[in-house]
Amino acid sequence: MSDIQRVGVVGSGLMGSGIAEVCARAGLDVLIAEVNLDATEAAKARIATSLGRGVRSGKLSEQDRDAALDRMRFTTDIADFADRNLVVEAVAEQEQVKTDVFTALDKVVEDPDAIFASNTSSIPIMKLGMATSRPEQVIGVHFFNPVPVLKLVELVPSLLTGQETQDRAREFVTTVLGKEVIRSQDRAGFVVNALLIPYLLSSIRMLESGFASAEDIDSGMVLGCAHPMGPLRLADLIGLDTTKAIAESMYDEFKEPLYSPPPLLLRMVDAGLLGKKSGRGFHNYA
Ligand code: CAA
Repeated sequence: MSDIQRVGVVGSGLMGSGIAEVCARAGLDVLIAEVNLDATEAAKARIATSLGRGVRSGKLSEQDRDAALDRMRFTTDIADFADRNLVVEAVAEQEQVKTDVFTALDKVVEDPDAIFASNTSSIPIMKLGMATSRPEQVIGVHFFNPVPVLKLVELVPSLLTGQETQDRAREFVTTVLGKEVIRSQDRAGFVVNALLIPYLLSSIRMLESGFASAEDIDSGMVLGCAHPMGPLRLADLIGLDTTKAIAESMYDEFKEPLYSPPPLLLRMVDAGLLGKKSGRGFHNYA
């Protein structure tokens, strides 16, 4: 049985709010850190919508939805994480932002056995571990979007992650959260993004070169390969800023052209066309 009762989630964007939701639905006390009240309100709305879907699809009773909401609290002060047993960092996919969070958490979290998890898709876990005084307690725990729906979690130990941290994280993710785990080495992109990102970038290059329309590229993969959504719609769902950031981390790591973000992706991010979350990406969501 897992001894983790009090969970902290840093960052409540698409991934952080999904992670907070699944932890609260699993009966845990969840504290969520955000930078300001606007971001907090946006996360509350996102979580309420997602729980509402659960109720509408019959997977969650109204009573369980209300209990889950009661288990979630928000703060803008990371010092409130002092009593957490496990913290999941889910802030923007930028190395400096993430290492700053780990350094701050290391200073405030009092449990000597606390697990420091990162939902990073592509930043080396070792770099995050080295930002703390306890790298043996730092591990990658990478969820997939939408977190309440998708079963997979990638567990990514660094060279310094202790066996006990790995075992406790695995137990937590499988037994408490009910997810399926695959293990990956600490290489940018891990297993899934190492395969997924070149595919998404190829679809953007295909669009950019005028090879086919966005609708036809997506329909091709949905109807021809039975994917639940096409690559451009999936990039929109992930967020084009996040897709770009993952690609850049992978390019930095491997120096392979297949990870290099195409100019169209860069320009769309410059323009604030970030996909579903901003209302427009390769498709419109207004
Ligand atoms: N929260 C809660 N439940 C949700 C949800 C959400 N955000 N989105 C969908 N659902 C539920 C719905 O209620 C529905 O439940 P029922 O079947 O019980 O009715 C079910 O999930 C299916 O949803 P919909 O019928 O609304 O829509 P759909 O069948 O078109 O599926 C989808 C939507 C689940 C997003 C599906 O298209 C899908 O799986 N797409 C691929 C997503 C994917 O590949 N994600 C990985 C991205 S990579 C990543 O996240 C990691 C990274 O590092 C970038």
